[in-house]
Amino acid sequence: MAANIVIGTQWGDEGKGKIIDILASRAEVVVRSQGGNNAGHTVVSNGETYKLHLIPSGILYPNTLCLIGAGVVLDPKDFVSELDGLHARGIKTDNLKIDPRAHVVMPWHITLDGLSEKFRGNSDIGTTKRGIGPTYMDKYERCGLRIYDLVHPEIFAEKARTTGALKNKIITEVYGGEAIDIEQMIAEYTEYGKILAPYVDDVSVLTFEADQAGKTILFEGAQATLLDIDFGTYPYVTSSHPLSAGVCVGSGVGPKMISNIIGVAKAYTTRVGKGPFPTELDDEIGDRIRNVGGEFGTTTGRPRRTGWFDAVIIRHSVRVNGLDGLAINKLDTLSGIGTLKVCVAYHTPDGRQIKDFPPTLEGLDGCTPVYEELPGFDEDISGCKEYSELPAACKAYIERLEELVGCKIVMVGVGPDRSQILER
Ligand code: GDP
Ligand code: IMO
Ligand code: MG
Repeated sequence: MAANIVIGTQWGDEGKGKIIDILASRAEVVVRSQGGNNAGHTVVSNGETYKLHLIPSGILYPNTLCLIGAGVVLDPKDFVSELDGLHARGIKTDNLKIDPRAHVVMPWHITLDGLSEKFRGNSDIGTTKRGIGPTYMDKYERCGLRIYDLVHPEIFAEKARTTGALKNKIITEVYGGEAIDIEQMIAEYTEYGKILAPYVDDVSVLTFEADQAGKTILFEGAQATLLDIDFGTYPYVTSSHPLSAGVCVGSGVGPKMISNIIGVAKAYTTRVGKGPFPTELDDEIGDRIRNVGGEFGTTTGRPRRTGWFDAVIIRHSVRVNGLDGLAINKLDTLSGIGTLKVCVAYHTPDGRQIKDFPPTLEGLDGCTPVYEELPGFDEDISGCKEYSELPAACKAYIERLEELVGCKIVMVGVGPDRSQILER
């Protein structure tokens, strides 16, 4: 019996999908507990690339039960197209279940995400425009529609008409946007409801029963610690809790079920969307990392901002998530760029050095990284099969990161494929 959490420690896209896919081969149940199709998780298996947004990365294993918990916000249109895409590639989805409590991303949420970003002008967040924030707003306002509603056509139509009338007023009268045709939308979404109906089940109960039966459970984090609504770089964050603790609330299990919490980081840092990024590189090294590492968003295709590894951030993640181990991906991307820099602390504008990530943007304002330099490496490490095969400079880099962040590095990624992982 084991329940592992895999979680992002930076600003997302750390390669969680790859780590989850690897660990899913040893798990019987994979659970998503927060976020929505703002996530984009890439799994590369035998040269085939799968990009998953809502469906847990365990889906590629035919016997793995894949669960979407109550804390997820689900866009039915995107979900159905993701299902179709998997079916077209011969992947079965009979083992997929969605909690009836999960909230539905409605078309007005997507419209309002776009309109509010436009209204913010230069202060926009740079959201994925998938309607995530507005859906969570309605959940907490207690006026959201849930999966249960979606699969019950009369309930859905009634709630959609009432809520839709109000949303159309906001869209047209507050933002000057275009009203949504509610009746046409109800007809379209009722069809999605029919497709989703066989997948609906109580994920809290299923997870509990699996644990009681001694099955191995894997909780798949989406987004990441620095995008957490409370412990991230607010307001440049997402609207959920991508932390380890969020997993329990989002899937309906108690914290005592969890036996192991793995954080995923890149050997450097990236961010997509706006907001502070102390170690950002606006130079040819940053461009090189972006191009060699293929740092373009899985969901929106936007170029990712790139920078050096920031140990201040990872220490923050180790603390707020209670990490037991770290997986460091994309070490291969750093080959050939010369001396490597690692941020070990921040210089504050008033001349202090701090080692804890500041709780507010104001506290972070004007902070500059204190760097330590480490020797780089030029070898192609993508074919290494064992940690011991890595060049000495790679091992020294990994071992120094481990000391700086205060957490054991249990896996090192040297390429996107399932097989390109070195376990320690
Ligand atoms: P996620 O959102 O955390 O699942 O990460 P994404 O899938 O959005 O982005 C990670 C990208 O890095 C994907 O294109 C992966 O295929 C790729 N990737 C993951 N691990 C490695 C690695 O160790 N080396 C290289 N070169 N690519 C990797
Ligand atoms: P995965 O699971 C990277 C970012 C967006 C934006 C902010 C808010 O693939 O790591 P939202 O649409 O959530 O309201 O946008 O959060 N963001 C991500 N960045 N990876 C993700 O997911 C992200 N999900 C949201 O770019 O800055
Ligand atoms: Mg991603």
